[in-house]
Amino acid sequence: MVFHVGQPVAIVVARSVREAELAASAIRVEYEVLPAVFDPVEAMDHPSIHIFGEDNVCSHWQQKKGDVERGFADADVIVEGEYRTRAQEHSYIEPQGCIAVPLGFDEMTVYGSMQCPFYVKRAVSEILGYPMSGVTVIQTTTGGAFGGKEDQPSQIAGLAALGAHLTKRPVKYLLSREEDIETTSKRHPAIVRAKTGATADGLLTAVKVDIILNTGAFSTLGPAVLYRSALHAAGPYRVHNVNVQAHAVTTNLVPFGAFRGFGSPQVLFACEEQIDRIAEKLNMDPVEFRERNLIREGDVTTFGQRVDHSVGMMETLKRAKERSGWTTKWKPAPNISLVIEGSRKGSHLWRGIGASTIFYGVGLSSSGEQESRTGAYVQLESDGSVTFAVGTTEIGQGMMTVLSQIVAAELGVDYERVRMAPVDTSRVPDSGPTVASRSTTFSGRALQDACKKLRSLMFEKVAPRIGSAASELKIEGKFIVCSKDNEGKIPVADAIKIMHEERGQVSAVGWDVAPPKFYDNEIGQGKPYVTYAWCTNIVEVEVDVETGTTEIKDVWAAHDVGKAINPQTVEGQIEGGSLQGLGFGRYEEIVFSPDGGVLSNNLSTYVIPTTLDAPNIYPIIVESPWEEGPYGAKGFGEQPLMGIAPAVTNAIYNAIGVRLNEVPATPKRVWKEIQGKMRGSSP
Ligand code: MOS
Repeated sequence: MVFHVGQPVAIVVARSVREAELAASAIRVEYEVLPAVFDPVEAMDHPSIHIFGEDNVCSHWQQKKGDVERGFADADVIVEGEYRTRAQEHSYIEPQGCIAVPLGFDEMTVYGSMQCPFYVKRAVSEILGYPMSGVTVIQTTTGGAFGGKEDQPSQIAGLAALGAHLTKRPVKYLLSREEDIETTSKRHPAIVRAKTGATADGLLTAVKVDIILNTGAFSTLGPAVLYRSALHAAGPYRVHNVNVQAHAVTTNLVPFGAFRGFGSPQVLFACEEQIDRIAEKLNMDPVEFRERNLIREGDVTTFGQRVDHSVGMMETLKRAKERSGWTTKWKPAPNISLVIEGSRKGSHLWRGIGASTIFYGVGLSSSGEQESRTGAYVQLESDGSVTFAVGTTEIGQGMMTVLSQIVAAELGVDYERVRMAPVDTSRVPDSGPTVASRSTTFSGRALQDACKKLRSLMFEKVAPRIGSAASELKIEGKFIVCSKDNEGKIPVADAIKIMHEERGQVSAVGWDVAPPKFYDNEIGQGKPYVTYAWCTNIVEVEVDVETGTTEIKDVWAAHDVGKAINPQTVEGQIEGGSLQGLGFGRYEEIVFSPDGGVLSNNLSTYVIPTTLDAPNIYPIIVESPWEEGPYGAKGFGEQPLMGIAPAVTNAIYNAIGVRLNEVPATPKRVWKEIQGKMRGSSP
């Protein structure tokens, strides 16, 4: 049975693409068309269509705290809303693809563009029945992935490897852009119903959220994505009464899965709309409302985790507020009739400013506990240079640079002398997946562990020459010195040479197991992440009320990253992530045909923002160190995308007094809302 348009039914392997296409066209597939369901609300408890189990619900997560009913009874104002977000395509540079090369009767090597080579290795081994030790996966240069190359390459490589296994020849499988968009995973469309209560003096009393993620025909990473939706749904606020119910529902659409933010952008859009709306009901500046409610150091999150340090939330708000000039720019939204009158008189361009404050659980959650460990390997070369290897991958985020900096600093060698080995699963340790903004922090910790071992080995070798105990030595800049008197300097470069001359051990492996996490889904409380990153986005827009077009003018993005090991790559992430966030909030929308196929299947019909659409983006780096991270770093990759959409829609409201319940805020959607409001306000 086929569950969605685009599901593979057969593979054709041939000597050329032309031959393969001819052979494929000779295959006749006769489909009996069965009833299908595409809407997750309809799919839940559907009387006759069962894609998964009895009710099509493939995963449920919840968050519970206090008593929401009592919290709403204590509230002076309550707002309720239903929000929708759409499928988003990763639009990485090169489509999915790989080459599988058979070697011997139970050995296979796969080359490809991917985030997680060890996932691919396991999948190919399982599909072919080869031993894990017989499968080698080599990551090739990967031009962005954004979650789209987390689990998906396992399927791509599986098909290629199966072809290679059957033909005993190398097989190349490269998707066209159209095939890629039509058949591979995308961001889950979501429906989020939220109810928020607050007292007259602006304190939140209760938050209730129902989340439905449409996970498509197969769950893939749906349950893990849903977990993040459930945990981030009430936002970074002090709230004592919370009830979040989250369900992932299977439908007959293409599978949805991992995408930068991993289930949080959807719920943060709803959350930050709600905050803006309740502040308005209280006649309060939405930033001031946030200042009253945001969590501080020592507070407990809505899911019961005390955050005792590295809580830069308020600092990001303070800095973004100052830089953007919020206090002078923000004024209550105009009434729509004023806007209409104004536009009749010719002033059709309206300006507004909006904010969002969000948080992000760094690294794998407790649901990914098994993968929360990292390996590293470091080798001192005879010329004083250093080679290191990890199993996490460079996918454009700058990991290679940052990890090289860590190794250079830990060993006292020049950054230029440090090289990362290519990620080849037969030569590098498994460091877990390259996901969840974890590479700097966790591969960094494993490298620190390996470097610590190498330092001890070096200290033992040079101690007699310095004339002090190995335990007294330390690295100071590029030298090994005695920590007591800073005497007897030996350059690290010389020490490495001595290691080689005296046949000392010149390589070490590092291993790191992340601090423990847990979550009890029965009670809806726990300690699901090791630490959190915090962010404030402020956006200024100009809306043309005659066309519904919005021009994003400025984005101020303040991020607490713990420690910016490489400030330039942090700024790069902020710029790229903010633009991708504008894609999610303002431009991008996968359009489905009535039979559930993808209509917008290339980059002319699926419109992503380009550099020409980029507003002024002002990155603001806040450093509130996490004690357990390398130099305080706590991971940074996904956050810049996550809070942009609600800052945009809040700014649109601030400009023209029209609320959006759905993103992206395309001109068509904004225009429709304006028309609806005009009809509503006409006499
Ligand atoms: Mo990611 S969306 O954690 O690959």
